[in-house]
Amino acid sequence: MVETKRGKLILIEGLDRTGKTTQCELISKRNNYKYYKFPNRETPIGKIINSYLSQQNYDGKTLSDQSIHLLFSSNRWELQEEMKKNLLDGKNIMLDRYVYSGVAYSLAKGIEGMDYEWCFGCDRGLVKPDLTIFLINNGNADNDGFGDEIYEKKEIQAKVRQVFETIFTEKEKKEYIKDHFKQLDVTGLGIEEVYEKVESFVKEEANKDSTNFIYF
Ligand code: TMP
Repeated sequence: MVETKRGKLILIEGLDRTGKTTQCELISKRNNYKYYKFPNRETPIGKIINSYLSQQNYDGKTLSDQSIHLLFSSNRWELQEEMKKNLLDGKNIMLDRYVYSGVAYSLAKGIEGMDYEWCFGCDRGLVKPDLTIFLINNGNADNDGFGDEIYEKKEIQAKVRQVFETIFTEKEKKEYIKDHFKQLDVTGLGIEEVYEKVESFVKEEANKDSTNFIYF
């Protein structure tokens, strides 16, 4: 019997407005990858997350920072079995945000007790991407063009960026960064120029053999 080769899990991370969604959608469409975006706002938990992000009170109250953090993680867990099944069936997956966004946006708030270990703890055990592509854009220094959601503010974005950088330079395992991580500066580049680079990373990864899953 021929064994099915498991699919690849590829993640694009970055701040708001770096073009993650555009690139994920293009890769999915042109290379037949399944597309998952987090938060997934359609699930029951995703609907609560959506009301938090769009700053509509949930049930008359504002969620605590700890609660919303756990809900973001829970949103990943509720789709985990389905994602693993797709990968085991040989389907490739393109992920638009995942664990690193969860940790970076919450850590950037600087809440007492919500340190790296705390923020990361609830995501431990999720399947880890075979490749993480981190997009940075140095041209997004003002508020122009950000939407109205809770984190779409210049000061918050600057802090989140610092935290992302600390995660990738200090916190994440060196072996993971060496073999499974690419940083891409998209400043001043057009959609197709970015796509060309993203696609080359994706194809390079697709040519590598992957057997067992790796986990956070
Ligand atoms: P989106 O704009 O990509 O839909 O993401 C919604 C916002 O949610 C974005 O500002 C990043 C933030 N976020 C978290 O705070 N924690 C998470 O775990 C994820 C996936 C996103």
